[in-house]
Amino acid sequence: MRTAHPVSLPEGLRRLVAETWASRRQEELDAALRFARLADALEKLGAPESLVGLARRAAEDERRHAGMCELMARTYGQEVLSPVPVSARETAPPELSFPEQVLYEVVAACCISETESTAGLTSVLAVEGPPRVRAVLRDILRDEVAHSRLGWAYLAHASREGSVAFLAPLVPAMLEQSVSPRLFAKDAPEAESPILLAHGVLPHARKVEVFVQALRDVVFPGLERCGVDTSHGRQWAEHQRVSGAA
Ligand SMILES: [Fe+2]
Ligand SMILES: [Fe+2]
Repeated sequence: MRTAHPVSLPEGLRRLVAETWASRRQEELDAALRFARLADALEKLGAPESLVGLARRAAEDERRHAGMCELMARTYGQEVLSPVPVSARETAPPELSFPEQVLYEVVAACCISETESTAGLTSVLAVEGPPRVRAVLRDILRDEVAHSRLGWAYLAHASREGSVAFLAPLVPAMLEQSVSPRLFAKDAPEAESPILLAHGVLPHARKVEVFVQALRDVVFPGLERCGVDTSHGRQWAEHQRVSGAA
């Protein structure tokens, strides 16, 4: 049975909003598994206890976010949800050593993905919408900020212990994994509707702008401060922007 949604939206937009919340739920479930694995890995590496604790807490946060996203998806009429994942996919190149793989994953998951989702949520929250939607967005945003800080703190820690320069040529792969394949492609006209904003969804062109701006303003400068060259990453971003605009 379909749950009534809080506002009436044209069908195409309603579906888009419902699907966005459903795919966020999926991302949150994946993130929960990734943080649980990261917490174990950080502990094994003897990382500062405070960072291990933050990673464990992040896994719990993500599970809670998944529940909120599921509720939102259902509120907008999403009936079918993907099965709950049981294991986190490995993203770090297998040829790296274990500590390098862990650092790769922390940078990809926290410094990049969590920083990007913080930027996206902040941008969505700049617009008025139903209080219920805003409460969920604000709740998730508060935690994602902490998750991204965990990444920057661990990268700074790792850079004091040894070189992190090996990450430079791997940044494009991390960026590739962090974006939906559709981000830089042309999307359906309804994906550009400003009405989406009030329902927690960035119109497509705005999403691309926010993504690229957060790379330039936060992600790349942050990586550079810790000794990771970003020329490969910047080239990747420029290439995506140009080929996406073509
Ligand atoms: Fe989350
Ligand atoms: Fe998060």
